[in-house]
Amino acid sequence: MKNKCIVVGVTAGIAAYKICQLVSSLKKQGNEVHVIMTKEAEKFVTPLTFQTLSSQKVITDMFTVDYTPDVHHISLAKKADLFVVAPATANIIAKIAHGVADDMLTTTFLASTCPKMIVPAMNTNMLNNPITQDNIATCQKYGMHIMCSGAGYLACGDVGAGRLPEPEEIEDAIASLVETDRYLQGRHVVITAGATQEEIDPVRYITNHSTGKMGYALAKEARNAGAKVTLISGKTNLPQPYGVDVVKVISAADMRECVVNNFEKADVVIMSAAVADYTPIEKADHKIKKAEGDLSIALKRTQDILLTIGKKKRENQVVIGFAMETENLLENAAKKLQEKNANYIIANSIREPGAGFGVDTNIVKIISPTSVEDLGLLSKDDTAKEILRHCLKK
Ligand code: CTP
Repeated sequence: MKNKCIVVGVTAGIAAYKICQLVSSLKKQGNEVHVIMTKEAEKFVTPLTFQTLSSQKVITDMFTVDYTPDVHHISLAKKADLFVVAPATANIIAKIAHGVADDMLTTTFLASTCPKMIVPAMNTNMLNNPITQDNIATCQKYGMHIMCSGAGYLACGDVGAGRLPEPEEIEDAIASLVETDRYLQGRHVVITAGATQEEIDPVRYITNHSTGKMGYALAKEARNAGAKVTLISGKTNLPQPYGVDVVKVISAADMRECVVNNFEKADVVIMSAAVADYTPIEKADHKIKKAEGDLSIALKRTQDILLTIGKKKRENQVVIGFAMETENLLENAAKKLQEKNANYIIANSIREPGAGFGVDTNIVKIISPTSVEDLGLLSKDDTAKEILRHCLKK
């Protein structure tokens, strides 16, 4: 995300300090960031901090005499691609819900016609109070996006809902709202990601090195392009992307069931998960105790999900598989494309530095029955963007 004009409204919550990182990161990426603070917010973070991070004058007072090149709240409101209020206190949500415009933040907010997002952060009881919930519902009714607060430890000592999401999560939500190229609008994209786990006993399982980064990047890009996204996720430590339906699964069998159940309604299925090919024949219901000598675990084949849906695929559905290889990349990938009846196979060799598990970059080739497109070394986010554009943007 770059070259966007983002207005960040900061209100008086202790989580205001997290917004310093958000502003800094948005600016570093090449966006124009304007911070408007309420008077009380200045007690938590100084305007100078945001001014330094954003390289823009921070506005707190509507009637300041030294800064009136134009009617600032109106010009900023016209210019903004997105207005985000974070942290949003119960007080600001109540004001916004009822059209109160009594300071720079609320007047600019009311004058803005761009997409608006509110990120509540407050004590759990304040958030759960039916008055606050009604005000949030009112904001939603007027088309504002609400980013649900994560549950966790709060500054007041309570543990529960009301925590401000991490800056990276807010940034991800912003990215989803400012994208203008919505070429997947109206399409349902189902994506699998991460590693499956095959249980041996209640303590142990078989898995692989997949971290889910590629699949999650694809889910975010598809969402940014306007798709309804269902992300069927195996094991990963990644945060749940904003605006994506995430279904958590454990084993290859669970993933298969979930993909098959979603397949009818899907326009596109992308199988980027690293699915186990084998699972233990017997799953012990107790911990297997060690004994003298070696241990062999008998494994059986799992069902191939891509093959299953490739066979069922309708003319108007697009199925994309992955092929992670150590040898003969193109031959193996082309074989998978044909055998599994996919429209595309995204092939990568984990032998190449910068590709494969855990890293933030990838090196892939997009293989169709008629072409091979080499994307070269890119970040996983850019790889995801290029894959979706190449395969789905007509
Ligand atoms: N796949 C699947 N179901 C499985 C195994 C793999 O749907 N049980 C999918 C993967 O999600 C990927 C593609 O098939 O999109 C290729 O997976 P990969 O592990 O590269 O190859 P396999 O088909 O498992 O073959 P091999 O392990 O022999 O390379």
